Amino acid sequence: MDNMPRAVKWQNDQLILLDQRKLPNIEEDVVCDSIDQVFDAIKTLTVRGAPAIGIAAAYGVLLGYKGQSAQIISDSFDERADYLISARPTAVNLAWAIERMRDCQKRHHNDEDLYQVLVDEAVAIHEEDKIACHAIGDVGLPLVKAHPNLLTHCNAGSLAVSEMGTALAPMYRAHQEGIRIHVFVDETRPLLQGARLTAYELHRTGIDCTLISDNMAAHVMGEGKVDMVITGADRIAANGDAANKIGTLNLAILCQYYSIPMYIAVPLSTIDMNTASGKDIVIEERDPEEVKSYAGHPVAPVGVAARSPAFDVTPNNLIRGIITDAGLLEPPFDVSIAKVMGGA
Ligand code: MRU
Repeated sequence: MDNMPRAVKWQNDQLILLDQRKLPNIEEDVVCDSIDQVFDAIKTLTVRGAPAIGIAAAYGVLLGYKGQSAQIISDSFDERADYLISARPTAVNLAWAIERMRDCQKRHHNDEDLYQVLVDEAVAIHEEDKIACHAIGDVGLPLVKAHPNLLTHCNAGSLAVSEMGTALAPMYRAHQEGIRIHVFVDETRPLLQGARLTAYELHRTGIDCTLISDNMAAHVMGEGKVDMVITGADRIAANGDAANKIGTLNLAILCQYYSIPMYIAVPLSTIDMNTASGKDIVIEERDPEEVKSYAGHPVAPVGVAARSPAFDVTPNNLIRGIITDAGLLEPPFDVSIAKVMGGA
């Protein structure tokens, strides 16, 4: 699917990010040539979505190193790696990608061509994510065939990964096969990733979709118009609890009420075996001004208290299955996850 937007590109030793803050109205790239720019881009959601921030950070940690000796790179690598990991806490892919880069740097710290070795590792992370997204699409395709009336939340599409998406990948695959589907898209307050990004992606691909505000999900489910919910995740704990964009938990509870299957689609890089359960996942708290305003305009009284937790955790008992690049995982998730992650 060649007309899909690409969130992250690496060209001529520069990192190019599609500025997701400006979508859908303006399609503009940001060229990053310093690590501070990448930190800022991750923090401000210029680039966002769990795998995409991991890929951006893998390239981003290398900016400024071209032409430098292995010694100079190795002397500053740990500090730069820790700095980028601190940009956002919830999505494990950020730390996962950076730790993989750190591991590569440690193994090759004496190599004359260390910079190129590290670039190749970042490219490998990027390419492997593409393969994972296509595999998720194939694994999820039979589910979408059986449940063609879908609902999704936030953006787990091409913009959130290397290409295709996670939650949207099975929908794109169904569309490629000529299967008629319909997708309700939650707008996803406060930053509107559903309205601005998912609706943009689906609409330009020609997939039949309808935008709803988050508080309409129960209503359309009650009308019998949703057969299945698929979202992405930012971190899945070893027991299957899944952190995803704030509001995902609301959907999971609604799905239980209406007996609608709730699936989470992720690459294995989103599963964190070092996190036992959802209670151990750090939830990012963002600036409450994001809730007190809409598109930059204040919508609440000056001085009123507000909060902006960016993610919530869906407990494993509300999840029907986890669609991964290594197959469909089913309950009990502690067992199926341990098996696929090599722990059983
Ligand atoms: O704050 P965001 O926009 O980075 O949140 C993104 C999500 O919650 C996505 O659903 C998640 O990262 C999965 S992306 C394939």
